[in-house]
Parts: sequence; structure tokens; C-alpha cells
Amino acid sequence: MLNILIIGAGGREHALAWKFAQDARVRQIYVAPGNAGTANMQRVRNIPLTRVSDLLTFAKQNDIGLTFVGAEALLVEGIVDTFQAQGLTIFGPDQQAAQLEGSKRFAKDFMHKYGVKTAAYAAFHELDAALAHLHDCPYPTVVKASGLAAGKGVVICQNQAEAEAAVRAMMEKRRFGEAGAEIVIEEYLDGYECSLLSFCDSRSIVPLVSARDHKTIGENNTGENTGGMGVIAPHPRFGAAEMDAFRRDILEPTLRGIQAEGMNFAGVIFFGLMVTVRGVYLLEYNMRFGDPETQAVLPLLDSELLDAVQAALERRLDANVFRWKDAHACCVVAASKGYPGDYRTGLPIHHLEQARFYAQVFIAGAKYSDGQYLTSGGRVLNLVGVAQTAAEARQKAYDAIARVQFDGITWRRDIGA
Ligand code: AMP
Ligand code: GLY
Repeated sequence: MLNILIIGAGGREHALAWKFAQDARVRQIYVAPGNAGTANMQRVRNIPLTRVSDLLTFAKQNDIGLTFVGAEALLVEGIVDTFQAQGLTIFGPDQQAAQLEGSKRFAKDFMHKYGVKTAAYAAFHELDAALAHLHDCPYPTVVKASGLAAGKGVVICQNQAEAEAAVRAMMEKRRFGEAGAEIVIEEYLDGYECSLLSFCDSRSIVPLVSARDHKTIGENNTGENTGGMGVIAPHPRFGAAEMDAFRRDILEPTLRGIQAEGMNFAGVIFFGLMVTVRGVYLLEYNMRFGDPETQAVLPLLDSELLDAVQAALERRLDANVFRWKDAHACCVVAASKGYPGDYRTGLPIHHLEQARFYAQVFIAGAKYSDGQYLTSGGRVLNLVGVAQTAAEARQKAYDAIARVQFDGITWRRDIGA
């Protein structure tokens, strides 16, 4: 029997706890710090820890057999190296491999070196050189802070004036702090996006079901970018031809690079793809599960997640470790009014029980206090419909979201449409 520690506080971590909790081999799951969803599950307990040193002590004292890290920040900080040095089993990239997400410059250099298909780019750590580059680059162009910026450090610029403003905001005003000390300026790619999560054990990379995130707050891809407002899985447009192109132009060269660089880890690689008329391009690597992609992908997994994790840890991954349901999932996010800007918190959430009648509910930014669910974040709930067809899955998610209520609840009507 295994004790598992999941690190994180989002809908992704609730979905991970939900999946692991169905496995008879799991004795106890701890989520650090967790949320209202993980506060109310059998065999699951929240613990109020967030620092690596505290988590390490907890894992040693509580016979944790597996630690699973949800978000990127601690991976980039080197939590995997720290746990492994103490003989603990942890799933995720070490600090070196985490740089594939933690530094866009590092990731682009890696892609270039190993022939991974990606947008043309130039990297800068000096303002004057970056500004000079903007004179003769084609527009639109994309300006990115190299470091971690919680998905907000990317600006698509229509002309030189916009690009100059973006470069100055990052490098001069340090709008994203040290993340903008270095920037990447890259070719704009026109197409549709696809999230492809995968497991990697450095000997192979095995893709999971494809997913389509909906990044902007407004319908029809309008308004500001968010962490993700909903997902449909499998991706309705990403078919066998795209998958073949992805394997040839992205997966295989990535694996060759990982091996050539001597990266040796068991963890997730989440490929953020742009499918264009010129082929499938890699926008970025994330070295962890996506949120909300995970909430749509895990309900489609028929086999145990633990089997895949163990196969990866033992460096014997292959496609057979995943068995998929012949079904579709649609995840719609219920957000607080004002998100991704300012929003109110502490608002009571009503009728969750009714929503559960239609869909799986994964809780994100909410806490549980005195028998009540209260909003605590921008993305509050994930309503996930699973059905034989994408249309039915969608219907279930929207039937569910129409039942729940909190002051200022907002959602996109076009997820999976
Ligand atoms: P990233 O954090 O690199 O995935 O970028 C965030 C979002 O910006 C992506 O999901 C895309 O919507 C957009 N984006 C990033 N790079 C490009 C690019 N080269 N061309 C067009 N859109 C991009
Ligand atoms: N939904 C995108 C991400 O997790 O980065």
C-alpha cells in the first residue's frame, strides 16, 4: 500500500487526487496545500505546506512512496533533485530538464540544436540589441519573457511600436521581474493550437489523448489570455496525419535531444503545439500536467495512472501502459467575474450537488470552511462532462454549470463548439 503526496492547489491537483484515490493500492493521499475539492475526499487529506524543505520533512516522516508535483515553480527550483538526494521517489523532471519550461531561451536553443520544428527566433539579454532587431523583423511578431511568468509573459505584436512597448515593459520596467531579464522574439505562427501531454522516461515519450485548451477569457478567442477556460478532448481537429507529423518533427527529435544531453528523468512533457498549413510546430514545452487539460484527459483514462507512473520510474514506458476509454470529455471553467484581472473572493458557492448529477466537478480556486464552499481564486470550478460523443460531453458540462451559482460566476459558452 502506497502513500502519495501531490503538490499543488488547483483543479489539476483535485483531478490527480481523484484518479489516484480510485486505485486500491493507494492507502492515503496528501495534497499540499490542496483546496476545497481535496478537503472532502475519502483517503485524501490536505496539509498546509508549500516550501520544499517542509515538504521533504513531511515526506520522510509520513512514509510517502510517491511524490507528484502539479505546477512548474518547484520543479524549476529543483524539488526533484532534493527529494532524490534523500532517497525519496518523486515523479517529474530534475532541475536541468525543468529548464525546458523554466527558460524559453534554453528551450528554443534545445529545439534548434536538435531540429525540433519551431518558430524562428532570436534571444536577447540587452535592451539595445533587442530594439535594433525590431527594425527589420516581420510583423506580427511575438515577444516573450524567457523566465516563468505564469503564462502571461507572451505578447503578440502587430507592429514595431507594440513590439517596442512589449520589449521595454519586460526588459526595462521588469513587468515580470527577473523573468524578463532575457527575452525571446519569435516568428508569429498562424494556425490552431493543440495540447499534447505525454509521459517521458528518457527512453521513450508516450503521448496521452490530445486536448484543445481555450486560452482567452472571451468567446471566439477574444480578450486577455488566462490559464485556460475550458478543454475538449480528444482534440476535434488533431487527427492521424497531424499525429504522424508531430512524432516525426517534434517527439523524435526531442527524445534524441534529451538523450544526447544526458537528461535522465521520469515525468511529464506537455507539448504546446501550433498546427499550421506548413506543418505542426512546437510553441513550448511544459514539464508538468496542464491545467485545465488534466481535468479533461484523466477522466478518459481507463487504466490506473499509477501503472504509467511506475513504468516511467522504472524506465519501461510504452504505449500499453495507458488504456483509453472510447469517449470524449469537455471541461468548462467557472471563473470569478473580473478574472484574469482583479476579482472578489470569499463568495459562497451553491448547488454543487446538483452539478455533480451531470458532470464531474473538479474544484480549483475554492476553500471549504464551516461546511461551506467559498470562492478563493480566479478559476473556481471545472465541470467535466464525459460521453460517447463530443456533443453529449459538452451538453453535460453546460447542464452542470447552469446549476451552480456564486456571485459573479462567468464562463465561456463556446468550449468545444
Ligand atoms: P507560450 O507560453 O509560449 O505557449 O505562449 C502562450 C500563448 O501565446 C500560446 O498558447 C499561443 O496562443 C501564443 N503564442 C506563443 N508563441 C506564438 C507564436 N510563435 N505564434 C503565434 N502565437 C504564439
Ligand atoms: N492550460 C495551459 C497550461 O497548463 O499551461
